[in-house]
Amino acid sequence: MRFKEAVAVVTGAGSGIGEATAKQLANEGAKVILVGRTKAKLDRVAAELNEFSAQCADVFAADVTKEEDVKNLAHYVKETYGDLHVLVNNAGGSTHNNITKLSIEDWDQVQNVNLRSVFLVSKFLGEVMVEGSSRNGIQDRAIVNVASLSGHKAGAHIPHYSAAKAAVINFTRALAYEFSQFGIRANSVSPGFVETPLTEQGLQNDRFVEAIKRSTALKRVGRPEEISSVICFAASKDASYMTGSDLLADGGWLIV
Ligand SMILES: NC(=O)c1ccc[n+]([C@@H]2O[C@H](COP(=O)([O-])OP(=O)(O)OC[C@H]3O[C@@H](n4cnc5c(N)ncnc54)[C@H](OP(=O)(O)O)[C@@H]3O)[C@@H](O)[C@H]2O)c1
Repeated sequence: MRFKEAVAVVTGAGSGIGEATAKQLANEGAKVILVGRTKAKLDRVAAELNEFSAQCADVFAADVTKEEDVKNLAHYVKETYGDLHVLVNNAGGSTHNNITKLSIEDWDQVQNVNLRSVFLVSKFLGEVMVEGSSRNGIQDRAIVNVASLSGHKAGAHIPHYSAAKAAVINFTRALAYEFSQFGIRANSVSPGFVETPLTEQGLQNDRFVEAIKRSTALKRVGRPEEISSVICFAASKDASYMTGSDLLADGGWLIV
C-alpha cells in the first residue's frame, strides 16, 4: 500500500500502459483520476477499479494537447481533492513515415501528443502539486513521464516520435531541477516494445515480431504490467532519492 491516501492522475489511462498503471496505483491505495479523450474507455477501467475498491477511481475526459482541457482538469483536481501527490504523463502515440514523406500535420500532432502534453499537464497540474506542497508541507510527491526506447535510439519510420520522446527525457530533467525545491521528484520511464493497442497492428505481423525478438536480449515483447511496475516504483517512496533520471525498461534492446 505505497500510495495509501495519495491522489494520483494518470493520462492515457483508458488502455495499455496507462490502464495498468492506474490499476496498480489504485491497488496500492491511491485515489486515481483517469484521464483520456474517450470517456467510454475510462469508464470501463474505472468500473473495474471501483468494483475492487469503492470510489478509488474517478474519470475526467480531456485532450491533454489542449490548454483549456488541461486547465479544467487542474481546476477539477484542486476543487475536488485539494491536492495531488502523483502525476503520470503517459498519453502518447505515433504514426509511421519517412522524413521526406512525413506531413507537417503529422509532425505537429506527434509533437503535441507526446511533448506539448507533458509540458501542459506538468505546468497546470504541477501548480496544484506545488500549492499542495506549500500548504500541506513537503511530502514525497512525484511526476513520472512516459518516454520511450525511441528517445534513446531513434526507431525506423518514427523520426517525429523519436525526437519528441528524446525531448521528454530532457524536459523531465528540467522539471526535476525546478520542482526539487518543493519536494516534487520527476523521472521518466522508457519502455521498449510492449503489447498494447499502440503496437497491436505491428505485432500481428510475424516477421515484425521475429525481428523484435532478435533485437531484444530477453527475446520477447513486454507486458503493460512490466512497465507500470517501474512507473509505480518511480512514483513511490521507494525511489525517494531519485529525481531527473530515466528508467529504461526495454528488455535489453540497447545491449544487443
Ligand atoms: N507500447 C509500446 O511499445 C510503447 C513503447 C514505448 C513507449 N510507449 C509509450 O507509452 C505510452 C502509453 O502507450 P500505450 O502503448 O499504452 O498505448 P495506448 O494503449 O494507445 O495508450 C495511449 C492512451 O493515450 C490516450 N491519448 C492519446 N492521445 C491523447 C490525448 N491527446 N489526450 C488524452 N489522452 C490521449 C489514448 O486514449 P484516447 O485515444 O481515448 O484519448 C490511449 O488510451 C505512450 O506515451 C507511448 O508513447 C509505448
